Amino acid sequence: MICLENIAKVYRTDKIETTALRGINIEIEKGEMLSVMGPSGCGKSTLLNIMGLLDKPSGGNVLIEGKKVDQFGDIRLAALRNRKIGFIFQSFHLINDLSVVDNVELPLIYRLMSGQKRRHLALEALERVGLSTRTKHFPNQLSGGQRQRVAIARAIVGRPEIILADEPTGNLDSLMGAEIMEILLGLNRDDKATIIMVTHDEHLAKQTQRIIRLFDGAQVS
Ligand SMILES: Nc1ncnc2c1ncn2[C@@H]1O[C@H](COP(=O)(O)OP(=O)(O)OP(=O)(O)O)[C@@H](O)[C@H]1O
Ligand SMILES: [Mg+2]
Repeated sequence: MICLENIAKVYRTDKIETTALRGINIEIEKGEMLSVMGPSGCGKSTLLNIMGLLDKPSGGNVLIEGKKVDQFGDIRLAALRNRKIGFIFQSFHLINDLSVVDNVELPLIYRLMSGQKRRHLALEALERVGLSTRTKHFPNQLSGGQRQRVAIARAIVGRPEIILADEPTGNLDSLMGAEIMEILLGLNRDDKATIIMVTHDEHLAKQTQRIIRLFDGAQVS
Protein backbone atom coordinates (compact mmCIF):
# COMPACT_ATOMS: atom_id res chain seq x y z
CA MET A 1 0.00 0.00 0.00
CA ILE A 2 2.71 2.43 1.09
CA CYS A 3 6.39 1.83 0.46
CA LEU A 4 9.19 4.12 1.60
CA GLU A 5 12.58 3.51 0.01
CA ASN A 6 15.63 5.05 1.61
CA ILE A 7 13.79 8.20 2.62
CA ALA A 8 15.87 11.16 3.78
CA LYS A 9 14.66 14.58 4.87
CA VAL A 10 16.83 17.61 5.47
CA TYR A 11 15.29 20.95 6.44
CA ARG A 12 17.43 23.81 5.14
CA THR A 13 17.35 27.49 5.98
CA ASP A 14 20.09 30.09 5.29
CA LYS A 15 21.87 29.35 8.52
CA ILE A 16 20.95 25.85 9.67
CA GLU A 17 20.52 22.42 8.25
CA THR A 18 18.50 19.88 10.22
CA THR A 19 18.48 16.24 9.26
CA ALA A 20 15.05 14.96 10.25
CA LEU A 21 15.13 11.53 8.57
CA ARG A 22 17.97 9.33 7.36
CA GLY A 23 17.58 6.20 5.24
CA ILE A 24 14.10 5.07 6.23
CA ASN A 25 12.81 1.87 4.59
CA ILE A 26 9.28 0.82 5.47
CA GLU A 27 6.72 -1.30 3.68
CA ILE A 28 3.14 -1.12 4.87
CA GLU A 29 0.60 -3.68 3.70
CA LYS A 30 -2.99 -2.86 2.87
CA GLY A 31 -5.13 -3.23 5.98
CA GLU A 32 -2.23 -3.02 8.44
CA MET A 33 -2.37 -0.90 11.59
CA LEU A 34 0.90 0.25 13.06
CA SER A 35 2.36 2.74 15.51
CA VAL A 36 5.31 5.06 15.16
CA MET A 37 7.13 5.86 18.42
CA GLY A 38 10.25 7.70 19.53
CA PRO A 39 11.41 10.76 21.49
CA SER A 40 10.36 14.30 20.65
CA GLY A 41 12.16 15.58 17.57
CA CYS A 42 13.11 12.14 16.21
CA GLY A 43 11.17 12.69 12.97
CA LYS A 44 7.76 11.07 13.54
CA SER A 45 5.63 13.93 12.20
CA THR A 46 8.05 14.45 9.32
CA LEU A 47 7.67 10.77 8.41
CA LEU A 48 3.87 10.93 8.59
CA ASN A 49 3.75 14.09 6.47
CA ILE A 50 5.88 12.42 3.81
CA MET A 51 3.68 9.31 3.83
CA GLY A 52 0.63 11.55 3.54
CA LEU A 53 2.10 13.46 0.58
CA LEU A 54 1.97 16.72 2.54
CA ASP A 55 5.73 17.07 2.32
CA LYS A 56 8.41 15.87 -0.10
CA PRO A 57 11.48 13.89 0.94
CA SER A 58 14.99 15.22 0.17
CA GLY A 59 15.97 11.76 -1.02
CA GLY A 60 14.46 8.34 -1.68
CA ASN A 61 11.13 7.22 -3.08
CA VAL A 62 7.56 7.14 -1.83
CA LEU A 63 5.39 4.55 -3.56
CA ILE A 64 1.63 4.36 -3.13
CA GLU A 65 0.20 1.13 -4.51
CA GLY A 66 3.42 0.56 -6.38
CA LYS A 67 3.49 3.96 -8.09
CA LYS A 68 6.27 6.44 -7.45
CA VAL A 69 4.57 9.64 -6.37
CA ASP A 70 7.42 12.01 -7.25
CA GLN A 71 6.42 11.70 -10.89
CA PHE A 72 2.95 13.06 -10.15
CA GLY A 73 2.16 16.74 -10.72
CA ASP A 74 0.65 18.86 -7.95
CA ILE A 75 -2.93 18.44 -9.15
CA ARG A 76 -2.71 14.67 -9.35
CA LEU A 77 -0.98 14.61 -5.96
CA ALA A 78 -3.73 16.69 -4.37
CA ALA A 79 -6.39 14.43 -5.88
CA LEU A 80 -4.61 11.31 -4.62
CA ARG A 81 -4.31 12.83 -1.14
CA ASN A 82 -7.96 13.88 -1.09
CA ARG A 83 -9.31 10.49 -2.15
CA LYS A 84 -6.97 8.01 -0.53
CA ILE A 85 -5.75 9.60 2.68
CA GLY A 86 -7.43 10.89 5.83
CA PHE A 87 -5.46 12.91 8.39
CA ILE A 88 -6.00 13.26 12.13
CA PHE A 89 -3.87 15.70 14.14
CA GLN A 90 -3.13 16.12 17.83
CA SER A 91 -4.70 19.58 17.93
CA PHE A 92 -7.79 18.61 15.89
CA HIS A 93 -7.46 21.39 13.23
CA LEU A 94 -11.18 22.11 13.07
CA ILE A 95 -12.61 25.34 11.69
CA ASN A 96 -14.30 27.19 14.54
CA ASP A 97 -16.65 29.22 12.35
CA LEU A 98 -18.18 26.11 10.83
CA SER A 99 -20.64 23.76 12.51
CA VAL A 100 -19.65 20.18 13.24
CA VAL A 101 -21.40 18.78 10.16
CA ASP A 102 -19.93 21.49 7.90
CA ASN A 103 -16.44 20.70 9.20
CA VAL A 104 -16.95 17.04 8.36
CA GLU A 105 -18.22 17.85 4.85
CA LEU A 106 -15.10 19.86 3.96
CA PRO A 107 -13.05 17.10 2.25
CA LEU A 108 -16.03 16.36 -0.02
CA ILE A 109 -16.25 19.92 -1.35
CA TYR A 110 -13.50 19.12 -3.83
CA ARG A 111 -15.47 16.24 -5.29
CA LEU A 112 -18.27 16.42 -7.79
CA MET A 113 -21.11 15.54 -5.47
CA SER A 114 -24.48 17.08 -4.63
CA GLY A 115 -24.89 19.00 -1.38
CA GLN A 116 -27.47 16.45 -0.31
CA LYS A 117 -25.12 13.55 -0.83
CA ARG A 118 -22.35 15.41 1.04
CA ARG A 119 -24.64 16.01 3.99
CA HIS A 120 -25.71 12.37 4.00
CA LEU A 121 -22.13 11.10 4.09
CA ALA A 122 -21.15 13.64 6.79
CA LEU A 123 -24.03 12.59 9.04
CA GLU A 124 -23.14 8.95 8.49
CA ALA A 125 -19.51 9.62 9.51
CA LEU A 126 -20.67 11.50 12.62
CA GLU A 127 -22.91 8.59 13.57
CA ARG A 128 -19.92 6.30 13.23
CA VAL A 129 -18.02 8.28 15.88
CA GLY A 130 -21.05 8.62 18.15
CA LEU A 131 -21.71 12.31 17.60
CA SER A 132 -25.14 12.31 15.97
CA THR A 133 -26.51 14.57 18.71
CA ARG A 134 -23.90 17.30 18.17
CA THR A 135 -24.04 17.95 14.43
CA LYS A 136 -25.18 21.59 14.66
CA HIS A 137 -22.82 22.54 17.49
CA PHE A 138 -19.65 24.52 16.86
CA PRO A 139 -16.22 23.10 17.78
CA ASN A 140 -15.78 25.41 20.81
CA GLN A 141 -19.00 24.00 22.28
CA LEU A 142 -17.48 20.51 22.44
CA SER A 143 -15.14 18.66 24.78
CA GLY A 144 -11.64 17.69 23.61
CA GLY A 145 -12.65 14.07 23.01
CA GLN A 146 -15.70 15.19 21.03
CA ARG A 147 -13.57 17.54 18.92
CA GLN A 148 -11.21 14.71 18.11
CA ARG A 149 -14.19 12.56 17.13
CA VAL A 150 -15.31 15.31 14.73
CA ALA A 151 -11.78 15.32 13.28
CA ILE A 152 -11.98 11.55 12.83
CA ALA A 153 -15.37 11.87 11.12
CA ARG A 154 -13.82 14.44 8.77
CA ALA A 155 -10.87 12.13 8.09
CA ILE A 156 -13.11 9.16 7.22
CA VAL A 157 -15.99 10.90 5.42
CA GLY A 158 -14.44 10.32 1.99
CA ARG A 159 -13.77 6.64 2.84
CA PRO A 160 -9.99 6.87 2.51
CA GLU A 161 -8.04 3.60 2.43
CA ILE A 162 -5.24 5.14 4.47
CA ILE A 163 -5.63 6.98 7.79
CA LEU A 164 -2.65 8.87 9.22
CA ALA A 165 -2.97 10.01 12.82
CA ASP A 166 -0.32 12.19 14.46
CA GLU A 167 -0.69 11.79 18.24
CA PRO A 168 -4.50 11.61 17.99
CA THR A 169 -4.82 11.12 21.75
CA GLY A 170 -2.00 13.48 22.77
CA ASN A 171 -4.33 16.19 24.07
CA LEU A 172 -6.83 13.87 25.73
CA ASP A 173 -7.09 12.17 29.11
CA SER A 174 -6.60 8.41 29.15
CA LEU A 175 -10.33 7.60 29.14
CA MET A 176 -11.03 9.74 26.07
CA GLY A 177 -7.81 8.47 24.52
CA ALA A 178 -9.05 4.90 24.91
CA GLU A 179 -12.33 5.87 23.23
CA ILE A 180 -10.51 7.37 20.25
CA MET A 181 -8.32 4.25 20.07
CA GLU A 182 -11.45 2.06 19.96
CA ILE A 183 -12.73 4.05 16.97
CA LEU A 184 -9.40 3.69 15.14
CA LEU A 185 -9.22 -0.05 15.91
CA GLY A 186 -12.79 -0.39 14.57
CA LEU A 187 -11.93 1.40 11.32
CA ASN A 188 -9.02 -0.98 10.84
CA ARG A 189 -10.99 -4.10 11.76
CA ASP A 190 -14.33 -3.36 10.06
CA ASP A 191 -13.36 -1.13 7.11
CA LYS A 192 -9.89 -2.64 6.57
CA ALA A 193 -8.42 0.87 6.66
CA THR A 194 -4.62 1.01 6.67
CA ILE A 195 -3.74 3.06 9.76
CA ILE A 196 -0.46 4.61 10.80
CA MET A 197 -0.55 6.28 14.21
CA VAL A 198 2.13 8.30 15.98
CA THR A 199 1.90 7.94 19.74
CA HIS A 200 3.92 8.38 22.92
CA ASP A 201 1.70 5.85 24.71
CA GLU A 202 3.18 2.32 24.87
CA HIS A 203 -0.14 0.92 26.03
CA LEU A 204 -1.93 2.20 22.91
CA ALA A 205 0.95 1.24 20.61
CA LYS A 206 0.84 -2.36 21.87
CA GLN A 207 -2.71 -2.67 20.56
CA THR A 208 -1.48 -2.21 16.98
CA GLN A 209 0.08 -4.95 14.87
CA ARG A 210 3.54 -3.42 14.61
CA ILE A 211 5.61 -0.66 16.22
CA ILE A 212 8.18 1.33 14.27
CA ARG A 213 10.68 3.06 16.54
CA LEU A 214 12.64 6.08 15.42
CA PHE A 215 15.65 7.64 17.07
CA ASP A 216 17.31 10.77 15.72
CA GLY A 217 15.81 10.31 12.25
CA ALA A 218 16.70 6.64 11.88
CA GLN A 219 14.62 3.53 12.35
CA VAL A 220 15.91 1.52 15.32
CA SER A 221 13.34 -1.32 15.30
N1 LIG B 1 9.94 23.16 9.08
C1 LIG B 1 11.06 22.77 9.70
N2 LIG B 1 12.23 23.47 9.53
C2 LIG B 1 13.35 23.07 10.14
N3 LIG B 1 13.45 21.99 10.94
C3 LIG B 1 12.34 21.27 11.16
C4 LIG B 1 11.09 21.62 10.54
N4 LIG B 1 10.16 20.70 10.94
C5 LIG B 1 10.81 19.84 11.74
N5 LIG B 1 12.12 20.17 11.87
C6 LIG B 1 13.14 19.42 12.65
O1 LIG B 1 13.10 18.06 12.25
C7 LIG B 1 13.23 17.19 13.38
C8 LIG B 1 12.05 16.24 13.39
O2 LIG B 1 10.85 16.95 13.66
P1 LIG B 1 9.44 16.24 13.82
O3 LIG B 1 8.41 17.27 13.94
O4 LIG B 1 9.29 15.24 12.72
O5 LIG B 1 9.63 15.45 15.20
P2 LIG B 1 8.60 14.56 16.03
O6 LIG B 1 9.24 13.22 16.21
O7 LIG B 1 7.26 14.60 15.40
O8 LIG B 1 8.57 15.27 17.46
P3 LIG B 1 7.35 15.48 18.49
O9 LIG B 1 7.21 14.17 19.24
O10 LIG B 1 7.83 16.57 19.40
O11 LIG B 1 6.12 15.85 17.73
C9 LIG B 1 13.33 18.10 14.59
O12 LIG B 1 14.67 18.15 14.97
C10 LIG B 1 12.84 19.45 14.13
O13 LIG B 1 13.53 20.47 14.76
MG1 LIG C 1 5.41 15.39 15.97
